[in-house]
Amino acid sequence: MTDEYAGAAEFYDYVVPYATRGDVEFYVDEALAANGPVLELGCGTGRVLIPIARAGVTIDGLDGSPTMLDRCHEKLQAEPAKVQSRVTLHEGDMRSFELRKEFALVTIPFRPFQHLLTVDDQLACLRSIHRHLTSDGRLILDIFNPSIDLLVNRPSGVEMVEGPPFEMPDGRSVTRSFKISNPDRFEQVNDIELIYDVTHRDGRTERQVHAFRMRYFFRYEAEHLLARSGFAVEQLYAGYDRSAYGSTYPGELIFIARKVA
Ligand SMILES: C[S@@+](CC[C@H](N)C(=O)[O-])C[C@H]1O[C@@H](n2cnc3c(N)ncnc32)[C@H](O)[C@@H]1O
Repeated sequence: MTDEYAGAAEFYDYVVPYATRGDVEFYVDEALAANGPVLELGCGTGRVLIPIARAGVTIDGLDGSPTMLDRCHEKLQAEPAKVQSRVTLHEGDMRSFELRKEFALVTIPFRPFQHLLTVDDQLACLRSIHRHLTSDGRLILDIFNPSIDLLVNRPSGVEMVEGPPFEMPDGRSVTRSFKISNPDRFEQVNDIELIYDVTHRDGRTERQVHAFRMRYFFRYEAEHLLARSGFAVEQLYAGYDRSAYGSTYPGELIFIARKVA
């Protein structure tokens, strides 16, 4: 796999909408309720994984980006030995992994599944998850609910600044913007650029661009993918406060799915 996150990994934990994302408590509660080991796919820098380990849960994390995993390792070094001992990290592809372990819960927090552009890749991932779950294990699939209004009306190729600049520990100031272009409404894929405009302490500026393609899914498409892969949907939430699908628009699509066959 190419390390798409290589340039962005150092900024990831400082990006304000990521650092303040209200999903961590939800995942910690679900991990505790699973009563068994947890696997997080696309675990990145451990933003969600480390709080789960702190809560006393044994957790494996898998990610395709060595740079994101390096950040996670670094952050783990600062944790007590007990927390570190609960975590196992793997570099791998969520479409084709073999960990020779079974898990009570598999999670994919904050949309890594949307990096999988084709139905074949999506099914390969879901089937790999199925193989790694205990007989009554659960999957939490976490993707966004596409807004019809934004799909139709959002201007393509326009850079939008996302909130005020944030500070890095070494004093650099970073403004994050994003650009969505080339909307392919047939393949349900957009080109995304996450743009980091960095100002160094001596006033020098530079720009880092994290470019990737992102797939969006509608509710029933995701349900059909889950059904084809041997899962039954138990819950569908619109938010991490467990608000029901339909209670807010567009909200998220957070599926709790049980392994059935
Ligand atoms: C938006 S980040 C989410 C990280 C973390 N789950 C969180 O909530 O902060 C997406 C992560 O998915 C990983 N990823 C994308 N495609 C992947 C694949 N095919 N296999 C494994 N990891 C992948 C990226 O490397 C990145 O770390």
